[in-house]
Amino acid sequence: MMKILLLNGPNLNLLGRREPDVYGSDTLASLEAEVVAYGEQKGVKVDCFQSNHEGVLIDKLHETLCLHYDGVVYNPGAHTHYSYALRDAVAAIDIPVVEVHLSDIEAREPFRALSVIAPVCIAQIKGKGKEGYKEALDVLLENADS
Ligand code: DQA
Repeated sequence: MMKILLLNGPNLNLLGRREPDVYGSDTLASLEAEVVAYGEQKGVKVDCFQSNHEGVLIDKLHETLCLHYDGVVYNPGAHTHYSYALRDAVAAIDIPVVEVHLSDIEAREPFRALSVIAPVCIAQIKGKGKEGYKEALDVLLENADS
């Protein structure tokens, strides 16, 4: 069975109450439950993890190697725009990573338009809310088939 890590970065623990007009009213727990259920339908095991700390997220990405993950669905939050350390971690693991954003980062403040992580991901999905996470899982499945 394919095994995927659903990774969420800083401030995403506050989903539901954090700027709901931008990020929606679902909590992280309900979003995770939905993606896990979607994975089950597709025969994929989805493990979920969130942290507000750069180093913890780097360690988690490294761990995907020894825990034999097949892919990562990753919303790096604000790290997207400046963390070369997380970009290097994604590049280092040699496992397909799909970057996801709830909001359309290109349609917001100019500093959000740039992702330093996207160039080392196999795809970037933005502006589709929680549906984007499921689409990311589909991208990983298609990538595994090809
Ligand atoms: C986000 C977009 C980022 O710019 C922001 O810092 C976030 C969430 C999104 O899901 O739309 O924390 O990654």
